[in-house]
Amino acid sequence: MNKFGGDWTKKKIEILVEYAKAYLKIMAKYPHFHLLYFDGFAGSGIIVKDKNIDIQLTIGAARRIVELDNPKQFDTYYFVEKVKKNADLLEKFTKYEFPQKNILIVSEDCNLKLVDMAKYLKSPKGKDTKVLAYIDPCGMQLEWSSLQSLKSLNVDMWVLVPTGLGVNRLLNKNGNISTGWLKRLVKFLGMSEVEIKRYFYFTESIETLFGKEIHESKVKNAIEKSAILYRDRLNEIFSFVTLPFVLRNTKGTIMYHLFLASNNKTATKIGNDIIKKFNRIN
Ligand SMILES: C[S@@+](CC[C@H](N)C(=O)[O-])C[C@H]1O[C@@H](n2cnc3c(N)ncnc32)[C@H](O)[C@@H]1O
Repeated sequence: MNKFGGDWTKKKIEILVEYAKAYLKIMAKYPHFHLLYFDGFAGSGIIVKDKNIDIQLTIGAARRIVELDNPKQFDTYYFVEKVKKNADLLEKFTKYEFPQKNILIVSEDCNLKLVDMAKYLKSPKGKDTKVLAYIDPCGMQLEWSSLQSLKSLNVDMWVLVPTGLGVNRLLNKNGNISTGWLKRLVKFLGMSEVEIKRYFYFTESIETLFGKEIHESKVKNAIEKSAILYRDRLNEIFSFVTLPFVLRNTKGTIMYHLFLASNNKTATKIGNDIIKKFNRIN
């Protein structure tokens, strides 16, 4: 079972479900499309908040989406979950309980499956398929190159970006980032090391006892800057990207930003309305 999350865990699921309901309502008018729901970091179906103190179970996004069927359901559900134990549990909570639905569960890396899905959508078989995708990693597992494969395709994608919990933590104060962390940032942002440094750091010349020294310093608002950067990058792949829903921990620190990206303007209009509503009550 997945063990994580604060209140943001519930909020991001409610946002997704509200959007999926609106999406299915609209798509009920276009029965010739094959509707595919793709969840790249699907989890186990159940989320345990803190089993040591006060057990609190949250039904995961995968199961919540499978439950939707009025006025329409998805034609296919494709769940990717790398950890086999989680994938097996998810199977119990979805496939076994809804045997009449077309549910596929694979224990694989989401990055590989995004590329496979893109190939399918570009093939004659996938030409009438529309996708609602949910990309909900806990860390920086999503690679930019996998997202690039979705360019110009019929995909509405909700993506959770670990701006505070991921990017900001890897960018240390003096720019002395370890090789491993830099590699992770390069894969995640799809930018070169030089571009990343130029964006998040500035150099200043400081007068010391022994003359001038050049210091590299991190920008103050790195979390917000990483959200702006990621949104701009998404806009290079998708025509429209919503405002972010900001996910904070109990101390008010920003952990993640959630975006909807799509090539359909109406999709992001609906997404923005939902996000604004949730940001107001955040
Ligand atoms: C935040 S959880 C997902 C929670 C889920 N969306 C829900 O509502 O229950 C992220 C999940 O992604 C899985 N995971 C981590 N890396 C992965 C990868 N590269 N590909 C697919 N799944 C991965 C983890 O095992 C974990 O279960």
